[in-house]
Amino acid sequence: MCGIVGYVGPQQCTDILVDGLRRLEYRGYDSAGLAIYDGKKVGVVRAVGKLQNLVKALREHPLEGSLGIGHTRWATHGRPTEGNAHPHVAGDVALVHNGIIENHLELKRQLVEQGVKFSSDTDTEIVAHLVHRERQAGHDLATSLRRALALVHGAYAVAVIDAKQPDRIVVAKNASPLVIGFGDGEMFCASDIPAILPYTKRMLPLEEGEFGVLTRDGLELTTLDGKPIDRAPRTITWNASQAEKSGYKHFMLKEIHEQPRAIEDTLRGRVDLHAADVVESEIGIDANTARSIQRVYFLACGTSHHAALYGRFLVESIAKIPATTELASEFIGRDPVVGPNDLVVCVSQSGETLDTLAALRVAKEQGAKLLAIANVIDSAIPRAAGSSFYTHAGPEIGVASTKCFTTQLAAMVLLAVFIARRRDVLDKDRAQSILQALVEIPHQMRSVLSLDDNIRDLARSLAGARSALFLGRGVSYPAAVEGALKLKEISYIHAEGYAAGEMKHGPIALIDADMPVIAIMPDDKSYEKIASNVQEAKAREGRVIAVANRGNADIGAIAQSVIYTPKVDPLLSPLITTLPLQLLSYFVADFKGTDVDQPRNLAKTVTVE
Ligand code: G6P
Repeated sequence: MCGIVGYVGPQQCTDILVDGLRRLEYRGYDSAGLAIYDGKKVGVVRAVGKLQNLVKALREHPLEGSLGIGHTRWATHGRPTEGNAHPHVAGDVALVHNGIIENHLELKRQLVEQGVKFSSDTDTEIVAHLVHRERQAGHDLATSLRRALALVHGAYAVAVIDAKQPDRIVVAKNASPLVIGFGDGEMFCASDIPAILPYTKRMLPLEEGEFGVLTRDGLELTTLDGKPIDRAPRTITWNASQAEKSGYKHFMLKEIHEQPRAIEDTLRGRVDLHAADVVESEIGIDANTARSIQRVYFLACGTSHHAALYGRFLVESIAKIPATTELASEFIGRDPVVGPNDLVVCVSQSGETLDTLAALRVAKEQGAKLLAIANVIDSAIPRAAGSSFYTHAGPEIGVASTKCFTTQLAAMVLLAVFIARRRDVLDKDRAQSILQALVEIPHQMRSVLSLDDNIRDLARSLAGARSALFLGRGVSYPAAVEGALKLKEISYIHAEGYAAGEMKHGPIALIDADMPVIAIMPDDKSYEKIASNVQEAKAREGRVIAVANRGNADIGAIAQSVIYTPKVDPLLSPLITTLPLQLLSYFVADFKGTDVDQPRNLAKTVTVE
């Protein structure tokens, strides 16, 4: 997720901007840059990698002035290079952006036809050129940005300055965060509160569709189409570390709550509801590959392996192709047989996991078709695969994966529908209903996340458990194994995720009154069967906690506690049932006082075999 900082006032702002960017480092980034007005023109300095590289570049090419914008870039469109780093310049205009421009291809084509030359691969540069075009047509900076944004679909927080109107920063927000800071004769803007907290505590977070002009005298706040808004700043009482976590106690909890937004970002520009289809240019494989493959082979580790289990389920049930999911470390540990008729999909949030990379290389040697699903653009696995499909979860700081996992689940739905439509095995109506249900998932997720308090109470009663069993069947099996993994990762309670049908072949021997059994049992074709399995657990005094759909009148009779979730398309239920399990693990760990964001012995990115 990119970070934005802006300053207008009496002070030299280079250090203020760099300092602000430093406080946004936790958001993750791969390049950074500043644009500062020096009294005559806007100078830009950018650098790939850590902020110290930008500081070094600024030593070689100093920027001075008291109007400026800064940016840390988390690559989504275009590799992490200096040319793709922000700010982007067009004429006298310099602009920074956080978000994703959905219709970037179309807008770029139009601008290229008008003779515009692009110097980057980013979607952001398009907005800079659109603003510049409006400036040339004689509009002031604010009107130019308004007119440019009227053409843009997507998510954005933008901040723009112009050497020809050098007393202001113009900002706008739609779906990406931006907060305005009120100083004494100076104004700030930033993606998040900590960036500017040392300078002011008076802040105004912008709301969707708001537009602001910042000058030394204050903020002129309007809607995007110019209607005045009267809202006063509030005083922030958080300290800097609380502010980094937006007031949440841990990054993991913050990231759990970011999931609706992460799914929206991952779906943005990729779903064509009208055509009941997935946009081909976004998915990393072409129609020919989708038609010709005879098997899909998912390879992954850890949480990504659980997303891959869901991928297997969907590819078979929606796209009707045989599919296999395997742990990458096991794949390289035997003599696997894959070939040109197989699509090997390597799934990895970091894109750097060594086992997955090694497995990909084995598949490549054998001539399989390759696709990487990753969250980090241009990381090793997408580069080695040559074809990639990026999730847009933004950087995940908590070691235990949450939003990266659910965005991987959403990616699996898109992949399966894309393949199915190319092979004519999914009719338009069903494709439309799946995709419609998928775009509604963020809304359903928000309703689950509001159950926070109930789940906290339930977690208190689990904190003393020594072991727990998570059961799921069919589409809920991946959610069960992921639920167990989360609990063991952060609370250090031993937990097993099991296919419910297998319970009678072993784990049933463990069940007694001390053993919580968490059953994921939404209304779907496996419901009756898992209900029988749960009865078996109950008969042995197991303490059953069910995750079931709202409106299920019978579940109270079998389960001791129930977490009710909204009913969604049965194929998509893991995108919902996963959330209460994440919260449950989180609260259990928090009660136990473990290091939630950095659990012992675990690493976010594992680059050893
Ligand atoms: C580590 C992380 C896990 C992750 C696994 C695979 O163990 O702690 O959260 O699931 O690696 O990582 P990847 O980046 O390939 O998804």
